[in-house]
Amino acid sequence: MSEESDEMDGLEVLACERCPALCESRSRIVNGVGPAAADLLFVGEAPGESEDRQGEPFVGRSGDVLDSILEECGLDRTAVRITNCVRCRPPENRDPTGEELGNCRSYLDREIERVDPELLVPLGKVPAEHLLDRSVAVTTEAGAVHDARIGDASYRVLVCVHPAATFYDPSQTDTLEATLETAAELVGASGGTGGESGQSRIDGF
Ligand code: URA
Repeated sequence: MSEESDEMDGLEVLACERCPALCESRSRIVNGVGPAAADLLFVGEAPGESEDRQGEPFVGRSGDVLDSILEECGLDRTAVRITNCVRCRPPENRDPTGEELGNCRSYLDREIERVDPELLVPLGKVPAEHLLDRSVAVTTEAGAVHDARIGDASYRVLVCVHPAATFYDPSQTDTLEATLETAAELVGASGGTGGESGQSRIDGF
């Protein structure tokens, strides 16, 4: 395995062969998107088919849900940073293994340290457990804030359901919306949609 510094340029992993199965299943490495310094950093699990095709996190059905609820909460997708625990699409969209999560962890930690967000929002169980290093019941813990030590710093972590949870249980839409409203409040960007006040908060965010 080559040194991490040989494979990562700033926030981008340019080349990586740490996970043989993922090297086979991916079309490309899907890096995070959004400002290099953002108050909010969303962390998903791993790219799916659309993300693997387009090279950007959360651009498929889950991304549509995320975008629309972000907008309802007065948050602009382009003003937040969005990344994943694992940057390569697992075969058949299976969950990443513990080993794959571990292999990609230094990239995630480096991205968190560089972006230095005010708030981390793991989207779903896998990223919540990965960041908090314990088992998490996301549907009951959604909206709770905990601290996580990453590198030399401590970060606030807001537990959140995965946007795809709303496909199987529409009541999770309210949970997701309430949690993202909390996220907006915690970073001082709340205000909901519409109206000048909401937009000015986005601009200042
Ligand atoms: N689900 C994830 O966890 N990440 C993505 O990028 C897309 C869907």
